[in-house]
Amino acid sequence: MNDKAMMPAKTKRLLVATVIATAVVAIGVTALLVNIFERKQEAKNTYLRVVELTDKTEDPATWGKNFPVQYELYKLTAEMQPTKYAGSEAMPHLRTGADPRSFVARSNLERESRLKTIWAGYAFAIDYRERRGHAYMLDDQTYTGRQKANPPGACVNCHASMVVAFNEVGNGDAMKGFQTINHMPYAEARKLVKHPIACIDCHDPKTIELRITRPAFIEGVKALKASQGVADYDVNKQATRQEMRTYVCAQCHVTYFFKGPEKTLTFPWSKGLRVENIVAFEDEAQVKEWVHADSGAPMMKARHPEFEMWSQGIHARSGVACADCHMPYRREGGLKISDHQVRSPLLNVNRACQSCHRWPEQELKARVEDIQTRYSSVKSEAMGAVVALIEDIKAAKAAGASDAELQAAREFQRRAGFYVDFVMSENSTGFHAPQEAAPILGESINFSRQAPGTRRSRFRWVTREVCCQPGCSSLANRGARKP
Ligand code: HEC
Ligand code: HEC
Ligand code: HEC
Ligand code: HEC
Ligand code: HEC
Repeated sequence: MNDKAMMPAKTKRLLVATVIATAVVAIGVTALLVNIFERKQEAKNTYLRVVELTDKTEDPATWGKNFPVQYELYKLTAEMQPTKYAGSEAMPHLRTGADPRSFVARSNLERESRLKTIWAGYAFAIDYRERRGHAYMLDDQTYTGRQKANPPGACVNCHASMVVAFNEVGNGDAMKGFQTINHMPYAEARKLVKHPIACIDCHDPKTIELRITRPAFIEGVKALKASQGVADYDVNKQATRQEMRTYVCAQCHVTYFFKGPEKTLTFPWSKGLRVENIVAFEDEAQVKEWVHADSGAPMMKARHPEFEMWSQGIHARSGVACADCHMPYRREGGLKISDHQVRSPLLNVNRACQSCHRWPEQELKARVEDIQTRYSSVKSEAMGAVVALIEDIKAAKAAGASDAELQAAREFQRRAGFYVDFVMSENSTGFHAPQEAAPILGESINFSRQAPGTRRSRFRWVTREVCCQPGCSSLANRGARKP
């Protein structure tokens, strides 16, 4: 006789009911899980494969047939909406045959004339504007006033859809195509490209997964990893998905220079990503991008080091990628879509920041702007200090100081100028890594003020007592001694 047989009829009925109820719940849960799983698969896979995409499908409109939502958002990068410190309003522009743009971005040189002094003798002193959306990248490069300086073909690497051009020019070998295009004259390289960055540059046409298509980044990140003890790093095989959500952007939003007569686009990372690592690298490689028109200093230029600065910040350390803030998820008809309208997160705080932070929108914005405002005032100090140094060297030169006497001060200018440029051309106005930006500006001020033989250095040149010391070799004293 088993125990069940001894149960009263009421208990038996209860047990049967419980068993049935449990089974129903279990079936329900399973169904739900299957449903969720199916939905996940849907989110991954279900799109209408209207057209077949290959490594020759350059036109984003063709990709848009399979992925209409991403394509519509991508086109919105043509919208211009400034925030307090980023982006630009649309400035009307008189169309001419030479420059058919009807709107351009604001000129930074007009707003901050000290930039012309800092970059005197270099193309950036001719024309330097706010950045705007990806839709404009190819036109803005084609028609910038900096074209007067005859830039190389290497420029197109970051301003156009390159996959097809690399493959065609290199006969299937993208690296070879890259090397050939780099040292073409710009006008010739420009004929090989049609679109600004397109789907094919960030995505594998078969799997839609992210991929790296730029040789300069493949080489740059390989050198960086080697410096961290990882040999032969292959970014397309070894990077995690979350890393790729940053690396696709880091193909362009980084500082660079053109190496040698081949004009190879190079990311100076083999000693690390911090400003002092980059300066050490460029010093060793004897990078001299221009000679300063006023002071004669051998200069190097920093450009949009968003990836390098972000790398030093709290968000990078917490694993937050560029795409998390600049391409946040949104829901479209039950699907999770990455916002392909790449833009300032401050235009989109709700999805860009509040997915992780519970602070109210106004407070989040205020925190960012507070960081940016404080940063801007120190930046202004640092710019003032470099400009003063330039004036000093110029005066000493006019007073007859020799190159040998000016050499040390010029070295200080090279450094001070690069440091302030590094944070100034970084486009988050300090936000990506506030605790890194501030000391860099402090260092820049130090370099400017410590340059030997200048008014602001410890060896003050304007005081007669000092300059009349016998044997005094301070170069600036020579200028001061003149009546
Ligand atoms: C490594 C990638 C890269 C290369 C190479 C590159 N750019 Fe850019 N460029 C960018 C990025 C990123 C921006 C947007 C950020 C900014 O404006 O600071 C930009 C912005 C610009 C702009 C718009 C803002 C401005 O400066 O007026 C112009 C014009 C421009 N680049 C011209 C050029 C020219 C000319 C060359 C070649 C000498 C060149 N670029 C090479 C990445 C690159
Ligand atoms: C092929 C090079 C390239 C890649 C890759 C790239 N960018 Fe850009 N980005 C540019 C250039 C060039 C501009 C400036 C265009 C101009 O001013 O005409 C720009 C502009 C921007 C802007 C300013 C937009 C505005 O409306 O003011 C943001 C934000 C931005 N990029 C973020 C990103 C993020 C995030 C990624 C990665 C998901 C990325 N970019 C990938 C080259 C690139
Ligand atoms: C935690 C969020 C966050 C992350 C991660 C992040 N950014 Fe930003 N980014 C911002 C904010 C905030 C600003 C300032 C926007 C403003 O002032 O309107 C900004 C500004 C920018 C700008 C100038 C925007 C414009 O409209 O002119 C560019 C370009 C940019 N970031 C690129 C990048 C790149 C590339 C990465 C990854 C290497 C990155 N950001 C990572 C939040 C982020
Ligand atoms: C600057 C690089 C970049 C460009 C250009 C770009 N994408 Fe994306 N795309 C991304 C990133 C980053 C993600 C997020 C991928 C991830 O999380 O794995 C993404 C995700 C996607 C996805 C997966 C679903 C989703 O929305 O998250 C599709 C589909 C897609 N993109 C289609 C397109 C199409 C179509 C174009 C051209 C119109 C395009 N992308 C252009 C960077 C880019
Ligand atoms: C994917 C998640 C994520 C996103 C998106 C994100 N953050 Fe963060 N944020 C973090 C993490 C993690 C930290 C590290 C400190 C912490 O744990 O709170 C942090 C730190 C910060 C801090 C510093 C806080 C402090 O007290 O030091 C600020 C300010 C901040 N975030 C602002 C923003 C803004 C503005 C945006 C949108 C542009 C944003 N974050 C987007 C995850 C995120």
